[in-house]
Amino acid sequence: MYFTASSANLLNIKADSLIVATGSQLQNSAKDLDASLDGAITSLIKAGDFKGKAGETLIIYIPVGTGKRIILVGTEGATTAQQQIRVTHAGATALLKTPSIKAVWVGEGLADDTEWQAGIVARCMQSVSYRYDSGRKIPAQTLKTLTYWVAAKGSVSAANKGLNYGAAVGKGMNAARQLGNMPANLCTPTYLAEHAKALTKGQAKFTTSVLNEAQMAKLKMGSLLSVSAGSDEPGKLIVIKYQGAKATAKPVVLVGKAVTFDSGGISLKPGGGMDEMKYDMCGGASVMGVMHALIETQLPINVVAIIPAVENMPNGNATKPGDVVTSMSGQTIEVLNTDAEGRLILCDALTYADRFKPDTVIDIATLTGAVIGALGKETAGLLSNNDELATDLLSSGLRSGDRAWRLPLYEEYDQLLKSNFADIANIGGPQAGTITAACFLGRFTKKYKWAHLDVAGTAWLSGAQKGSTGRPVPILMDYLRSKAK
Ligand code: BES
Ligand code: MN
Ligand code: ZN
Repeated sequence: MYFTASSANLLNIKADSLIVATGSQLQNSAKDLDASLDGAITSLIKAGDFKGKAGETLIIYIPVGTGKRIILVGTEGATTAQQQIRVTHAGATALLKTPSIKAVWVGEGLADDTEWQAGIVARCMQSVSYRYDSGRKIPAQTLKTLTYWVAAKGSVSAANKGLNYGAAVGKGMNAARQLGNMPANLCTPTYLAEHAKALTKGQAKFTTSVLNEAQMAKLKMGSLLSVSAGSDEPGKLIVIKYQGAKATAKPVVLVGKAVTFDSGGISLKPGGGMDEMKYDMCGGASVMGVMHALIETQLPINVVAIIPAVENMPNGNATKPGDVVTSMSGQTIEVLNTDAEGRLILCDALTYADRFKPDTVIDIATLTGAVIGALGKETAGLLSNNDELATDLLSSGLRSGDRAWRLPLYEEYDQLLKSNFADIANIGGPQAGTITAACFLGRFTKKYKWAHLDVAGTAWLSGAQKGSTGRPVPILMDYLRSKAK
């Protein structure tokens, strides 16, 4: 799909479809279009075919210029970024249901910020066009070109900037979704490592390295290795360095949990819905998605991706409840529940992060079922040891429509992790599960500014809509972009 901006006369642009976002009161270009169609749009509004309600769509099959159809998308009441994204998504969905090859999105009627709105259009177009690619034949996407039309010539460059950025974010989300949706027999730690190498091959600003279990043992990553111990699939630590700024600029380090299948280990999970634990690598997949988006955008910033990738299984070598392991930091951990494995791989990755002299470290993980109880499927849990970083991430969430909500890291919660046999236990009991999980990580992140995103609720959907969402690629990219400015 090719995106471009134009301010040429709307009635002269050749296209199969024109997308017009409007309420029941037509404004500006929608008015002009209506006039050129002898009032066809207003008469349909009068007749009640189209009420202009947010997200409502109506296709009018009338030739306009050389076009074949106008797709009206209702905007009434869509004032927040979230609502405007929903409307944009509805428009993109309606458009991609038509066999259009060339379409024009009339850049009026929604957000006033041209760059932002064009970005959301491109992102939604990418996102709606995603199909799970299993190697089976996929229905071909007919749309080749989307022209984002703006009234003023002076807005064309802002629109193009937005389109490029949004398309990159959309592609990054789709890459994350593809990895997430892959079954765990195909998407193994080894597969993820090969994917990272293939992705960055020939990319001048990227360097990828993969540590195997022997190399991790040398680094004394006893906590991470205690998780992969019970699986026949060897664990990998994937490290991708992106140098978009001068070498001396401190990087943002992104650490993504990639448990390619979480059976729970010896603390085996119940059978119902266990297939969804193939999604327990979505944190790592989102970091990989960000790398895809950085290849496209080449943002002037340094980023290091660290993806600890393991499978959590209960074979005869598996870690048992009560086992004590020593993490790379030297702290000992009593593994009271082998299903609290995410924190066990993240803690060693977070210790490893320190060698990159980070400006900031953000980890992303499908860490706790408890975050779904607290925030549902809409909002990611955010926990941080730094107020400014937390505030920045919250505003990135609002701007990108990929929202997070902060939970506290008060020291009293940390007390729940006391162990009689080690420096720390890997579970904190039945209360405040998302917070105690983050407190556990907090024991390993004292040297730098750190934030943790618990995306167990937001990274994938269940039921009839089962599938990976590509979150939190948008919030992460927005954060990196704001730091790169
Ligand atoms: N990957 C799970 C968290 C999870 C559970 C994500 C359900 C999405 C849906 C994680 O490894 C886990 O099992 N966490 C346990 C922690 C508990 C043992 C302290 C949980 O949340 O139940
Ligand atoms: Mn688990
Ligand atoms: Zn897990």
